[in-house]
Amino acid sequence: MLIRRITCARALPLSIPMATSPLFSHLKPFSPSSSLPPRVPSSSRSFPFSSLASASPSKPSSKRANPPIAALVEVGGVKIAKDDVVRESDPTNNVPDNIFSKIGLQLHRRDNHPIRILKNAIYDYFDTSYSSKFVKFDDLCPIVSVQQNFDEVLVPADHVSRSYNDTYYINADTVLRCHTSAHQAELLRDGHSYFLVTGDVYRRDSIDSTHYPVFHQMEGVRVFSPDEWEGSGADATSYAAMDLKKCLEGLARHLFGAVEMRWVDTYFPFTNPSFELEIYFQERWMEVLGCGVTEQEILSRNGRNDCVAWAFGLGLERLAMVLFDIPDIRLFWSTDQRFTSQFSEGKLGVKFKPFSKFPPCYKDVSFWITDSFTENNLCEVVRGIAGDLAEEVKLIDNFTNKKGMTSHCYRIAFRSMERSLTDDEINQLQWNVREAVQNKLHVTLR
Ligand code: PHE
Repeated sequence: MLIRRITCARALPLSIPMATSPLFSHLKPFSPSSSLPPRVPSSSRSFPFSSLASASPSKPSSKRANPPIAALVEVGGVKIAKDDVVRESDPTNNVPDNIFSKIGLQLHRRDNHPIRILKNAIYDYFDTSYSSKFVKFDDLCPIVSVQQNFDEVLVPADHVSRSYNDTYYINADTVLRCHTSAHQAELLRDGHSYFLVTGDVYRRDSIDSTHYPVFHQMEGVRVFSPDEWEGSGADATSYAAMDLKKCLEGLARHLFGAVEMRWVDTYFPFTNPSFELEIYFQERWMEVLGCGVTEQEILSRNGRNDCVAWAFGLGLERLAMVLFDIPDIRLFWSTDQRFTSQFSEGKLGVKFKPFSKFPPCYKDVSFWITDSFTENNLCEVVRGIAGDLAEEVKLIDNFTNKKGMTSHCYRIAFRSMERSLTDDEINQLQWNVREAVQNKLHVTLR
């Protein structure tokens, strides 16, 4: 889950939610979105996109596709007000209303929800294999410091994931966590040696059936003391790597049965060596998780100098889409009974039966881009207007004219998972999208 702005991951067949592709893997090419303003040191970060809407005088009635938003949410007993998270006039803030509205929903704790069913199946595996030694955290607040999210797990100052294009910043020092690794260091400091952290994570991203700006991850960490590897004949790192692989192969078999698996070397700033586990499932190789042996610096900075540890992170949506045959990542957020009633506790792998497929409606928008234009920013604008009715935003034409001006044409697919949309409704949405694209992204419509 690792981080999903990865071109080759995007090119994988069918519905592998990128929510599971490594954010931090440097071995794969990054998607267009990551080649934009990123890799600037945090001190010179520029915010390429204003969340301020400038209304046009000629605007028709602006019926929004998004439901009304609560002003206060609660996570782990902490109350969070909308103003704490969304600050439209603050240029260091890029959190829109629709993202705030997801905080506190915690799908991983919702009764009979596929994400919770999967979480519990993973818990069962760890409880059985390690006599319930793993301590479980699933209610840690997703608002974390830049230090927790990046510095404490050794993410370099110029890493793309730190950019405003990729991460939701509340202010220059505070973010919505983009991975559950944000909690590793504090839990190590607290003395935990076996732990699982499940939570909602937030990433600015593109729009399609496998990408959603909020998804769920589970992190696992195990710390070994010297007496555990001494006498094994292996050095500490090899011992931890062997144990890690054995543990995760067992987990994959627990979830998927007797599948073929392979290990792929990769890169994460917080582990060395680092690996991805892939399984051969439904006739293709699918990345299941990222993991590795924890960087010694993380252990020594957190009072665990003599120890060695392993860590893994997996994306729950990606696995749940495959295990339950869920075709679109937006469905996880549906409260439609025709979706929710199909799943029940303890039943991993019950296949989802689509209740009906409503037709998509396609609308194109073309404009001359500016230097600061990014596809993630466009997708934020589209989601801000159309919410979950936006199914896909796809670049269908791209050219540069003799004057050096570059034009992009995007095709937006609008579709509700729950009902048919009317022509009027779609025309209104498209009108609002065009207006917002122009006003917020400062591009010139064609
Ligand atoms: N945090 C990584 C990601 O989101 C996943 C990971 C966790 C990889 C722990 C290795 C160890 O991309």
